[in-house]
Amino acid sequence: MRLSYNPLGQRALETFNDLSSDQQTRLLQAAREAVKNAYAPYSEFRVGAAVLTEKDNIFSGCNIENASYGLTICAERAAICSAVASEGGNNMKIRAICVVNDKESTCSPCGACRQVIYEFGPNAIVIFRGHDGLVSTHANELLPDGFVLRRQVCVAK
Ligand code: THU
Repeated sequence: MRLSYNPLGQRALETFNDLSSDQQTRLLQAAREAVKNAYAPYSEFRVGAAVLTEKDNIFSGCNIENASYGLTICAERAAICSAVASEGGNNMKIRAICVVNDKESTCSPCGACRQVIYEFGPNAIVIFRGHDGLVSTHANELLPDGFVLRRQVCVAK
């Protein structure tokens, strides 16, 4: 299924409306607040993300860059790390995740973040800035066939 970038598109609206207006507001506010804490001296692209968990808690994160560029942590993964640290990795499930930036620029989660979102919420609602404004979709649409490690693969023969 193709992702619609039209913020007024029916599918985008339906997905966004899966959250209550209170949840939408809290999520967006937390992501916007997190942008202020971004550490982005190299790209100067400040990003904030907020995770809404199935327990209805919100955790936020920002991008944290490093002089060794490849060690940079995206805002989405920082927010997910915070949620896991608080609720526990075996319990935390992502209901929705929202990502915003200080440039009002298009910014969908990168491939690595998509896989990490998928780990904790294959059906999570993902809200980000598309070409015409905020859009929302589901993690499994952003990452079809995300990787899952089946237990039997790990069992030594
Ligand atoms: N970045 C994020 O934090 N999230 C995204 O979804 C895309 C990119 C960050 C990483 C880096 O610090 C900066 O944006 C430029 O790539």
